[in-house]
Amino acid sequence: MGMEGFRIEEAGLGDLGAIRALQARCFPEDEFGWIDLFFLLAFSDTVRLKAVDGSGRVVGFVAGDPQPHRGLAWIVTLGVLPEQRRQGVGTQLLAACESRLKEPCLRLMVRVSNTVAIALYHRAGYQEIKREPRYYPGGEDGLLMEKVRQ
Ligand SMILES: CC(C)(COP(=O)(O)OP(=O)(O)OC[C@H]1O[C@@H](n2cnc3c(N)ncnc32)[C@H](O)[C@@H]1OP(=O)(O)O)[C@@H](O)C(=O)NCCC(=O)NCCS
Repeated sequence: MGMEGFRIEEAGLGDLGAIRALQARCFPEDEFGWIDLFFLLAFSDTVRLKAVDGSGRVVGFVAGDPQPHRGLAWIVTLGVLPEQRRQGVGTQLLAACESRLKEPCLRLMVRVSNTVAIALYHRAGYQEIKREPRYYPGGEDGLLMEKVRQ
């Protein structure tokens, strides 16, 4: 599916500006601050991957946070620039992130109104396990989704 002309690569601190701009366009209500993004890109065992187009532009980003002591990993964020959506980039970024995470259980939180993302996660094998009332700023409920693999 799709993905011609895109490649997936490790992201690092050199991508801070591009990923900050991408986050601002993908998550106008919930974007990460500079400091959160700095730590996400600079330290720890975090999996962070970018999708890059043929001209070298960062068009998508995913991050996964392994918590081996709990046997699970969190998909922290997944975003694709609006003009590059519906080409499979989000699905491929999620799959690449999952393959680098070793934990049997994967979890993520998504706004209940985000039907596009919820559909993508369903297709990727995630199930809704809990609704968290007023999880997001502004009071929207969150949907906790989980994928358990062997
Ligand atoms: C959610 C998000 C990451 C999906 O990115 P994406 O690259 O568009 O994802 P995909 O292309 O893999 O799949 C999305 C849709 O495109 C469709 N699609 C995939 N390839 C396609 C193709 N070649 N032609 C037409 N449609 C296609 C999928 O079936 C899916 O369809 P749907 O919208 O009817 O459910 C993106 O919409 C986004 O960044 N949203 C804002 C941030 C966000 O909400 N992130 C998740 C929060 S937890």
